[in-house]
Amino acid sequence: MPETKGRARDDLRLFRPEGHSLSHYGVVVRPANIQNYPLCRKNEMTGGLTAMPSVSPSYESTVHSLKEEFQRTFRTNPVIFRAPGRVNLIGEHTDYNDGFVMPAAIGFYSWIAAAPRADHTLHVRSEEFHETLDLSLASLLGPPRRHWSDFVRGVAAVLQGAGTPLGGANLIIHGQVPMGAGLSSSASLEVATALALLSISHATLPLRDVALLCQRAEHEYVGTRCGIMDQFISVFALSAHALMLDCRSLDYETLAIPEDVRLVICNSMVKHVLAGGEYNQRRTDCEAGVRIMQRHIPQVLALRDVEPSDLEKHKAELPEVVYRRCRHVINENQRVLDAAAALRAGDLSRFGHLMYESHRSLRDDYEVSCSELDLLVEIASACQGVYGTRMTGGGFGGCTITLVRAEAVDRFQEQVAKKYKDVTGITPDIYICSAAQGAGEWQEP
Ligand code: GLA
Repeated sequence: MPETKGRARDDLRLFRPEGHSLSHYGVVVRPANIQNYPLCRKNEMTGGLTAMPSVSPSYESTVHSLKEEFQRTFRTNPVIFRAPGRVNLIGEHTDYNDGFVMPAAIGFYSWIAAAPRADHTLHVRSEEFHETLDLSLASLLGPPRRHWSDFVRGVAAVLQGAGTPLGGANLIIHGQVPMGAGLSSSASLEVATALALLSISHATLPLRDVALLCQRAEHEYVGTRCGIMDQFISVFALSAHALMLDCRSLDYETLAIPEDVRLVICNSMVKHVLAGGEYNQRRTDCEAGVRIMQRHIPQVLALRDVEPSDLEKHKAELPEVVYRRCRHVINENQRVLDAAAALRAGDLSRFGHLMYESHRSLRDDYEVSCSELDLLVEIASACQGVYGTRMTGGGFGGCTITLVRAEAVDRFQEQVAKKYKDVTGITPDIYICSAAQGAGEWQEP
């Protein structure tokens, strides 16, 4: 098997910061301090999210302040784990249909400082929410509480439920992934929490199980019946690469992203909320489609198994909405396979074309876009140096992803920021990214 293909690995990989080479970091960094800036940089001209400075501090300084705070509070040294958010290049709403996705991690991480404590309590502080609370390891069960601590409670509960005894811990969480932007702040927090809890409990689990358990935590303790994409990429991401994942077998292939291409994320600033509601409804629609198709083709286990011609053949039996949901998923799966072929061949125009098609399908068939995302796509598609653009993530707000030639990035972000603001009155956050490394323990360089 070539090196770029793999099954979910079984080792608990320790993270070592990358070599900070420009190819990993994207070119839009401050020249004086190239080595110290993370993979993502916000557009300094366009304002920012309240929880974040206009330029993210370097990873080293993030770790330094987290450690200092931990030592001040608990008088002991923590271990530090981090897990990244993600952007999905193509393959949306296919993961929970056993299909294909192509995400890449971005350089915003959830960070957790952790140390053991003697009792059976998780004493957790969230820096973003300025809140501290205690969770008893003996009573973690219960429905979603719609609170940030659901992620920690859920992950601890599913780890214990899987037969991994956990010890008490002091935890401080620092989140860099913009929340409610569809960039997987949830999955990154889950994965970082899982790795930190396992480490201080001296327990190990195959990484693939870590991803699957974090997904379960999201289902049972947060209330979103998400697929595996976000947790998987947060664990397995490779810098400078996207990852094409088969969500049924969990086999994946890493695909190099050409060095002169930037992943530009434009945040519509429309908050997206997945828990419950529309997201779960889409999943239910897909399941309804599968049940109808199974009447004719019993070997269909998921929409992944349905050919476009089969769908057309039985179209009359499907409610119109269900038919369109299925059509999106079936075509989107093919688009991911085609996009992977395009990337292997270095054909970025083809890749971009598939991104446009994906957006149209998400807008018209799957109906998870919104006018702000459509506008961002329209604006971006008229800019120079753009290969393709689409909404990314669950939808209903959140972000677009645009592939832009490196030298066209500055002009691109100026134009998008201005035109989007002219129409909506909203200043978008724009992040210039290169693909980042997956989760692990922070090791001092
Ligand atoms: C959210 C979910 C993922 C996936 C995407 C849509 O990010 O967490 O599992 O379904 O939406 O592609």
